[in-house]
Amino acid sequence: MSVRTVRVAALLIVLTGCTPDAQPRPHTGGVPVGDDAPSATIERLGDAPDAAFFLGAGRWLALGSSLTLHDVRQPAPADVPFGDLQPTAAAFIDGQLLLATADGLWASGDPPRESPLSDLVDEPVTRAVSDGRDLWLLADVPLHWRSGALAALDVDATVTDVIPAGDVTWLRHDDGLFAVDGRLAAVDAIDAPGLQSAAITAGGEVWLVEDGVTSVRVDGDAGDGTWLDVDVEADAVFAHPGSDRVWIIGDSRAWTGTVAGIAPVTLTGEPLAVDAHGRLLIRSGDTIERVSVEPTARVLDVPLLLTHAVDITVDAGRPDAVSAVTLRLEQSESPVAGPPFVGSLDPSGLPDETTEALLRVTVTWDDGSEVIVQQQVAIGDGVTWDDDIGPLAAATCVECHGESASTPLHTAEQWQARFADIQAQVGSGAMPFGREALPQSDQDLIQAWADAGFP
Ligand code: HEC
Repeated sequence: MSVRTVRVAALLIVLTGCTPDAQPRPHTGGVPVGDDAPSATIERLGDAPDAAFFLGAGRWLALGSSLTLHDVRQPAPADVPFGDLQPTAAAFIDGQLLLATADGLWASGDPPRESPLSDLVDEPVTRAVSDGRDLWLLADVPLHWRSGALAALDVDATVTDVIPAGDVTWLRHDDGLFAVDGRLAAVDAIDAPGLQSAAITAGGEVWLVEDGVTSVRVDGDAGDGTWLDVDVEADAVFAHPGSDRVWIIGDSRAWTGTVAGIAPVTLTGEPLAVDAHGRLLIRSGDTIERVSVEPTARVLDVPLLLTHAVDITVDAGRPDAVSAVTLRLEQSESPVAGPPFVGSLDPSGLPDETTEALLRVTVTWDDGSEVIVQQQVAIGDGVTWDDDIGPLAAATCVECHGESASTPLHTAEQWQARFADIQAQVGSGAMPFGREALPQSDQDLIQAWADAGFP
């Protein structure tokens, strides 16, 4: 550990009156429950043979008894050898993973080293939570570690969970929650004797399930705020203080959304936690998967053979919450404005002889989620009569403009001689006669052929 190894005497902080000294909660409204079930996309994180997992600040996940560490914000897993330690709790602090076992506290490394904190903590640690700055260890009493100082909180309740939420940290006990600030002074408390589950979202909203009833405190300030009932029967709520999204889990149903409204969602596994982007981690059989409700993106109108600049459309979920779309063809990148997100796919910057190029479209939403769509695009030589216009004429014109027609249009020469006329007829949609107008991409192709000098 890079934390200072100075031995500190456990500092005793008495927090009198910070537990059940909260106001009753008037319920003043409801959170809308939408009808549309969002389609969930699931990202597989990795296999977990015995499905042991640990999370710190929603960022880190370690699976199995021989632990593998994954940053849940980046799919690429990095292996961390931890041998056969059987951890009871884990947290990520000062750039390292801290593991609590029956034999003490260990810091990541190969081999793992006993943490200097081990000497200071006598009781078994049942839960470790860190937001990267503060470390909380739940032993007989909650222990707080920061910048080399270990403090024990003296509270007349058994703290069972810790939820770091920015400026404050919420501590859960059997009859509710209380919050402490950076100096460990009690700043907020919620009385909830039948508390089953609690979660805090980025806006500081406190979501609770109490006796099967789900509610949320909005615009809350020390002990008051507005409580809204959520009209669903649930057992648990999951959220991350870095995201506004909440996941509400009932017996056989689940919902997700924000205080602005929630909608039903279908889950195929047991919910575990939410990451900093509001994505739910679920255990499904032997694997842990990441469920995100929306971020979906498709790229439309990509031609089979790209010979000249064409417009393509990026169809993104939640278009109004999209913060950026970029389109990259090999090395050349351009932003796409929208919605609707229509960008130009232009092969003219590619080296000659290119036959295939990588199209990469990146969509970023304002909650930080991102989807990258990649595909190989075949690149054609310039437009020619033989490869492009001849077949187009044969397919769309020649049945009425064959050799015996008053206006024959089956050779390059005929097209070239009547080109302005053809363009006018095709551009206005008058031709092909009685049929649907040619798509813009075909009209562009005809133009590109003329631009290239009718090869
Ligand atoms: C279903 C039949 C049909 C199809 C398909 C069709 N045309 Fe025509 N086109 C006609 C008829 C009928 C005329 C009028 C008689 C004529 O000049 O041959 C015409 C006339 C034209 C003229 C001459 C207009 C003028 O007044 O000088 C052009 C140019 C033309 N077509 C281009 C096309 C092109 C290019 C296509 C294919 C993209 C096409 N047409 C497909 C039936 C068709």
